[in-house]
Amino acid sequence: MSTKDLLNKEKMPKHIAVIMDGNGRWAKQQGKLRTFGHQSGVTAVKDVTEGAAELGVEVLTLYAFSTENWNRPKFEIDALMSLLVQTISKETETLMKNNIRLATIGDTDSLPTGVKEKLEKAIAKTSVNTRMTLVLALSYSSRWEITKAVREIANEVKEGKLDIDAITENTISSHLTTSAWPDPELMIRTSGETRISNYLLWQLAYAELYFTTKLWPDFRKEDLYEAIYNYQNRERRFGMISEQVK
Ligand code: IPE
Ligand code: IPE
Ligand code: MG
Repeated sequence: MSTKDLLNKEKMPKHIAVIMDGNGRWAKQQGKLRTFGHQSGVTAVKDVTEGAAELGVEVLTLYAFSTENWNRPKFEIDALMSLLVQTISKETETLMKNNIRLATIGDTDSLPTGVKEKLEKAIAKTSVNTRMTLVLALSYSSRWEITKAVREIANEVKEGKLDIDAITENTISSHLTTSAWPDPELMIRTSGETRISNYLLWQLAYAELYFTTKLWPDFRKEDLYEAIYNYQNRERRFGMISEQVK
């Protein structure tokens, strides 16, 4: 039996965010280069994307490259960028077939031109798709995003388009790169690290956090089901007491 059969269809998270971590360690365990781990991680991306779409998840956000990852050795950055180009070229048809829309969050202007062009093409082509949105966080960090939002809001105030007293939580949310989607209800991080690493700090305010020691290249649909099952069996109180939310 699969954990999938135990899942409550009424309580499916609309938005799941993932920190795909552990590629390097996975490769090292087998005496291979770290880049081999990244290549192997693509299988996990495909399986989990398919699994999430089958469950009716509306948005799946994957942390693929952080602002801080620019500090890695050039060799690894180059390998990740070419893997990105290859994968987008190869998988756009699969996204079309599965009716999945591609989107990105992050400072994509900082990506190499080739990567940016491939991404823009795939985003445009898949923009007609409606089943699920796959969001890749690329050159993303939450502090970058919040800083950008603050600048934009300050500018609107300066230009007289926005009154300071009219600034609400919604004003901030609407200036974040994720403004089109609901906040994630569930955040999954693989590899055993139990930190957020500058990911969706505002959006994860009330998300359920799920950590697994599985390394990303080993993560599959079945692991996704387990994470969702775990999520569905938690009591989300949002500051209230148990009796109020029952
Ligand atoms: C996650 O795996 C992928 C990226 C950050 C691009 P890592 O490359 O961080 O692998 P570990 O954590 O070093 O094992
Ligand atoms: C977070 O993983 C970023 C991505 C998965 C893309 P890292 O491996 O870069 O994070 P730290 O260094 O463990 O915090
Ligand atoms: Mg890591």
